[in-house]
Amino acid sequence: MLKILILGSAAGGGSPQWNCNSEISKAVRNKDKGTSPRTQSSIAVTSNGDEWILFNASPDLGSQILHNKQMHPKKDLRHSPISGVVLTNGDVDHVAGLLTLRERQNLSVYAHKRVHTVLSQNSIFNVLNPEFVDRRELIMNKRFELKNKNGIGLGIEIEAFEVPGKIALWLEDESKGDDFGTEEGDTIGLRICSAIDNKSFFYIPACAKMTSKLSEKIRGSEVVLFDGTLWRNDEMSNNKVGEKTGQRMGHMNNSGDEGSIEAFKKLDVKRKIFIHINTTNPILLPDSAERKIVEEEGWEVSYDGMEITI
Ligand code: MLT
Ligand code: MN
Repeated sequence: MLKILILGSAAGGGSPQWNCNSEISKAVRNKDKGTSPRTQSSIAVTSNGDEWILFNASPDLGSQILHNKQMHPKKDLRHSPISGVVLTNGDVDHVAGLLTLRERQNLSVYAHKRVHTVLSQNSIFNVLNPEFVDRRELIMNKRFELKNKNGIGLGIEIEAFEVPGKIALWLEDESKGDDFGTEEGDTIGLRICSAIDNKSFFYIPACAKMTSKLSEKIRGSEVVLFDGTLWRNDEMSNNKVGEKTGQRMGHMNNSGDEGSIEAFKKLDVKRKIFIHINTTNPILLPDSAERKIVEEEGWEVSYDGMEITI
């Protein structure tokens, strides 16, 4: 059995986003239209109920820990149920929370070599004292058990795999062409499994395209938490809040022929759950036509504090 706790269901910026005054951010601030605040992208998973692994460390991690009692210290004067962190990319919404975990606490941080390289080149992350924090490389397409700093298995196995995506926004290099220097491994997805009963789910908070390889991997699975960033590709310009398309940001949209709703139609996934949802996405409005469509298509819209047991 695995317990999954959604710490943050929003995309980078959160909902409301601090400087955004468009319909949804405004509604969330005014507690209007049935909306609720969503913090930035992260989940926590446990197999034994005591030790948790974070999947991504959001800039909102401090308040996520405060608002979820499962994350509180339980014993001794210094303690945390958080044993480690697995990163799916190097974006700010997924790595900035590492700085919140800097208080001499034993942790293991797992990431693709590409992400470890940029973290090690950025000296602010040296606050994660190597005496306490192990940085471990994720080898792709190889299932293995996550271990705490002392090498004790946590009952959670993962298999990481590359998915279509993009280099982190803060590392984009225009001189490197249309993909800004993106390489394989800049964005990964994860199959997360119980080492005890082999139950598993997928966590794919960013994905630019559904490939045949990815669809075969997730076909028939119990639960997929999937990139729900935008309803439509031109949503930012349509809302007059930005120019970038979803594709430019490395995200496939929910709707349309190339969208995730269409891509999942024949995959027989039992629970399909959107996560990493941008504050412009109308599926965040409980009464919207778009929310009705996603629910009719069998999708759930994740929210902060949502718990899933598999
Ligand atoms: C994204 O998912 O596109 C990024 O998180 C953007 C950002 O860093 O704000
Ligand atoms: Mn993001």
